Amino acid sequence: ASTLGASAAQSGRYFGAAIAAGRLSDGTYTGILNREFNSVTPENEMKWDATEPSRGSFNYTNGDRILNQGVSMGAKVRGHALLWHAQQPSWAQSLSGSTLRSAAINHVTQVATHYKGKIYAWDVVNEAFADGGGGGRRDSNLQRTGNDWIEAAFRAARAADPNAKLCYNDYNTDGVNAKSTGVLNMVKDFKARGVPIDCVGFQSHLGTGIPGDYQSNLQRFADAGVDVQITELDVAQGGNQATVYAGVTRACLAVSRCTGITVWGIRDSDSWRTGENPLLFDNSGNKKAAYTSVLNAL
Ligand code: XIL
Repeated sequence: ASTLGASAAQSGRYFGAAIAAGRLSDGTYTGILNREFNSVTPENEMKWDATEPSRGSFNYTNGDRILNQGVSMGAKVRGHALLWHAQQPSWAQSLSGSTLRSAAINHVTQVATHYKGKIYAWDVVNEAFADGGGGGRRDSNLQRTGNDWIEAAFRAARAADPNAKLCYNDYNTDGVNAKSTGVLNMVKDFKARGVPIDCVGFQSHLGTGIPGDYQSNLQRFADAGVDVQITELDVAQGGNQATVYAGVTRACLAVSRCTGITVWGIRDSDSWRTGENPLLFDNSGNKKAAYTSVLNAL
């Protein structure tokens, strides 16, 4: 097939992009989006600060714009993200303890209910594990409400939208390391105790290389009984950008439970990694070598 989405669909997968509501009036941007992708993720529009700017008062305007764009394309929509230590509204940042816990769980319930039946997979919890060799949780206001905050969030999300796949999503978990092993142990514990979890997202914000055990890391999560997805792929521009992109694509295709790949933006100029040119289309919307490399690998 001649597009990313159609090529991914040949093996039952999707190929998605993170998109921004503020760019949907750009014809070059939407032209590429409509042509190439069959999944969308809101880059910021479904985060806590965007959807609940004051406590108990919800704003779905921009989130709905992303949803409607996805629906108009016949695309999957990945929900991102219900709970995260970053991009919290200031009112939540100032809460703690049981007050924060109930506000957080209410947030999960309200947002997942608003989008009930529309979301393919939710990143229920984002980036809750610490970097480095410890393999444990990241300190955050949410973590300080008690170690069970993650399972409480997953249970609330399942109750609100039983048909959405529920994912845990993180970065620096793209190879076998202490952090990814910590996440895997949580997945195994959740599975053993009946806590609802369906998928793990690997952000894959990569530098100039790909971990040699990238595929085997995906496989060990799949073997634990969850789907895996590449959720925020971007790769520093260097001599081997196209090679790294192809390696990620081949790894996903080699793991039957890897259901799709999302790149974190469309053109280099749309990227949050300013100046790194980490995406598949250049600033003018032309296909880069990395694009061709992904298409050939799909
Ligand atoms: C980034 C967005 O791309 C930026 O526009 C925003 O300013 C900060 O967040 N991990 C995630 C994403 O899970 O939500 C982040 O997105 C990138 C890192």
